Amino acid sequence: HLKALVQKLTDTHQLEREEWVTLLQGQSPEFSEYLFALARKVRQKHYGTDVYVRGLIEFTNYCRNDCYYCGIRKSNPTASRYRLSPEEILSCCRIGYRLGFRTFVLQGGEDGYYTDARLVPLVERIKTSYPDCAITLSVGERDRNSYQRLFDAGADRYLLRHETFQHTHYSKLHPASLSAGHRQDCLWTLKEIGYQVGTGFMVGSPFQTDQHLAEDLLFITRLNPQMVGIGPFIPHHATPFAKKSAGTLEKTLFLLALLRLLLPKVLLPATTALGTIHPKGRELGILAGANVVMPNLSPTSVRKDYALYDNKICTGDEAAECRVCLERRVNSIGYQITTARGDSLNLDSYS
Ligand code: 5AD
Ligand code: FES
Repeated sequence: HLKALVQKLTDTHQLEREEWVTLLQGQSPEFSEYLFALARKVRQKHYGTDVYVRGLIEFTNYCRNDCYYCGIRKSNPTASRYRLSPEEILSCCRIGYRLGFRTFVLQGGEDGYYTDARLVPLVERIKTSYPDCAITLSVGERDRNSYQRLFDAGADRYLLRHETFQHTHYSKLHPASLSAGHRQDCLWTLKEIGYQVGTGFMVGSPFQTDQHLAEDLLFITRLNPQMVGIGPFIPHHATPFAKKSAGTLEKTLFLLALLRLLLPKVLLPATTALGTIHPKGRELGILAGANVVMPNLSPTSVRKDYALYDNKICTGDEAAECRVCLERRVNSIGYQITTARGDSLNLDSYS
C-alpha cells in the first residue's frame, strides 16, 4: 500500500492530503531506506552526483520579530546583536568568490536598519562586483515594492520558509503580529516578480502533526518552488520553546526524500540544523536526496551570535575551513561539489 502511494507520487508528482498522512505515518527504517534509494535515483537523473554550494552571509541578527522558536527573537535580551557593514559583507563575498562560491546568500533577521535605501545599493554593489554570481536574499517579510526594488537591483533568488501552512499551528509558533496567510502571500508575490523562490519548514516544530506536514506538502505542490529548505527544530535555551524536544534526524531525512520525489528538480539543501543534530546529518541528507550545502562565510567574530538554536555547528571555523570540510564530507559519500551557479532546473516541467 505504501509502495503504491510512492509510485503514485513518483508518477504524478502530487498526492491527496490523506495519502500524505498515510505515507508520513508509514515511516519506518525499512521504508525510509526504500525511499532514500528512489530519491537518489531521481536526483541522479537530473543532477548526477553534483552538490551545489552557496556561501551564506549572516549579515545581521537584529530582528523585529518574536518567533517563539528563534534565538534571535527580539525579546531575547541575552542575544549579542551585530550588524555587518557593507564593506564587511563585500569582504565576505571576496573571500567566498576566491573559494569558488558563485552564489551568495544574504541572510538576516528582519532588521529595520536595512531599509531599501540601504539594501538596494548593497545588492547593486555585489552584483556589479560579481556579475557571474547569483544573489539570494533571505531577509523576511517585506512589501511588494521592496521585493521589486531588490529584484531590479540584481537579486535573483529569495528564501522565505512558510514555516507551517496551517494557520492555527502557525499562531502557536508566532506572536499575533505574524500570520500564515501573510507569509504565504509574500511567497506568491516573490514568485510573480520573477525570483527563484525557496520555501520550507522545520521538522518536529512544537505541536506539529503529520496532518500539518501534509498541508505543508500540499502548499509546496501548489507553489512549485525552486528550492525547499527543511531542517529539524532545535530548541534554543533563551526562547519560550527552550524545553520542547527537537525534531529527529529520521523524520527530516524521510521528508527530504519525499520532497525529492515530489519535485524532482528542486534544490534541496542538507541544512546546518541537520548537521547539528547528527555528526553525519548533512551526508545523510545528501543520501536521502538533498543536493545543496550552504557553508558559512560570515566572519568568525560574529558566527556564534547568529544563534537561531543551540549547539550550532561551524561557529568557530573560517570560511575556508568550512569549504574544505564540506568538500571532504561530500566526497566521502561519492559526490562532488560543483561551483556552478546552480540555477534551479525546476522551472515548469517535470520531464
Ligand atoms: N531550530 C531550527 N530551525 C530554526 N529556524 C529558526 N529557529 C530555529 C530553531 N530553533 C529556522 C526557521 C527560519 C530559518 C532561517 O531557520 O525555519 O526560517
Ligand atoms: Fe563548517 Fe564543517 S562545514 S566546519
